[in-house]
Amino acid sequence: MIKIGRLKLSSRFILAPMAGITDLPFRLFNRKFGCEFAFVEMINVRSLSYKSKRTKSMLDTTEADKPLGVQILGAEPQYILKGLDIMKQYDFEVLDFNAACPMRKIINRGEGAALLKDPKKLHGLLKLVVEHSDRPVTVKIRTGWDKKSVNAREVALYAEDAGVKAVFIHGRTKEQLYSGKVDYDAIRAVKEALKIPVIASGDIFSPELAKKMFDETGCDAVLVARGSMGNPWIFRELETFFKKGVISPRPVKEEIFRVMLEHLNSFVDYHGEKTGVMLFRKFFAWYTKGFRGVRPLREKCSTAKTLKEMEILIGKFKESKESIVEHRIHSHEMP
Ligand SMILES: Cc1cc2nc3c(=O)[nH]c(=O)nc-3n(C[C@H](O)[C@H](O)[C@H](O)COP(=O)(O)O)c2cc1C
Repeated sequence: MIKIGRLKLSSRFILAPMAGITDLPFRLFNRKFGCEFAFVEMINVRSLSYKSKRTKSMLDTTEADKPLGVQILGAEPQYILKGLDIMKQYDFEVLDFNAACPMRKIINRGEGAALLKDPKKLHGLLKLVVEHSDRPVTVKIRTGWDKKSVNAREVALYAEDAGVKAVFIHGRTKEQLYSGKVDYDAIRAVKEALKIPVIASGDIFSPELAKKMFDETGCDAVLVARGSMGNPWIFRELETFFKKGVISPRPVKEEIFRVMLEHLNSFVDYHGEKTGVMLFRKFFAWYTKGFRGVRPLREKCSTAKTLKEMEILIGKFKESKESIVEHRIHSHEMP
């Protein structure tokens, strides 16, 4: 069991916040496969303060979508306070503060991973959030800005001092973005320095890689991020491996087909046909990863506009003679 403030979790596998991915249907879908705790997409407090419809819709949730974490992004106290005030009416259990996002436009505003360069400023902002939030506050960091300035231990100590209840750490620097080696040593240094739980992120694509993360860092839990894209089975596989020591075989084509259709329909129900089909395009590629000869179908899929068109392509995938060539997913291209 892991405790984040008053929240108790029985699973050590958490669905990571992913902008453009972890919307309500995606979270519900992963929960069906055993995900216990999930995060919404990152919420920009400035947009929330301006009552942006799109930002508010990211906070949509349901009874089945619990327990839930919300992640905020910002660096200006007035917007952070306004955002926290608006969020009081929403139902979620944990409030995470983003000090990890490497996107240029975010860094240029002094937000996200830019805060790793100024741990004292981050400390001040976290104290403000802790003081004004009625829910347990956490922070998500990276190992540092670049390989010359790995400072996660110092940043995490500041965060603990500010009163956060857990630290999420992506084991890469801002410079690395999403590729290159995960720095297990930097995560272990954070774990050894803190009393609060440390939840690690980076290349959790399989039970073996999750085990490596636990063994090498001593972390309390892990975040599943790209490993869940087109692969909701990962939550079941992780639980099975850690409870029974058994590596599950990859799902058969028939099962992938069934789940793809269900996923597509849940997107269309929530987003409407046009957006739901468009959002599903990248998932088609992820679900069919590791199968030989699916490129022509993927190409067609990238222009599919209607539910019917997409269903036909999924049907063709099922009927194709191609079998799987890659049994374990060890990496994932960025969307
Ligand atoms: C498409 C995408 C969007 C992401 N958005 C966020 C985000 O909004 N907030 C955040 O803290 N991390 C975000 N991340 C980072 C993940 O939470 C995770 O830390 C990172 O992908 C490393 O884990 P992985 O190697 O297992 O994918 C995002 C990652 C991806 C791939």
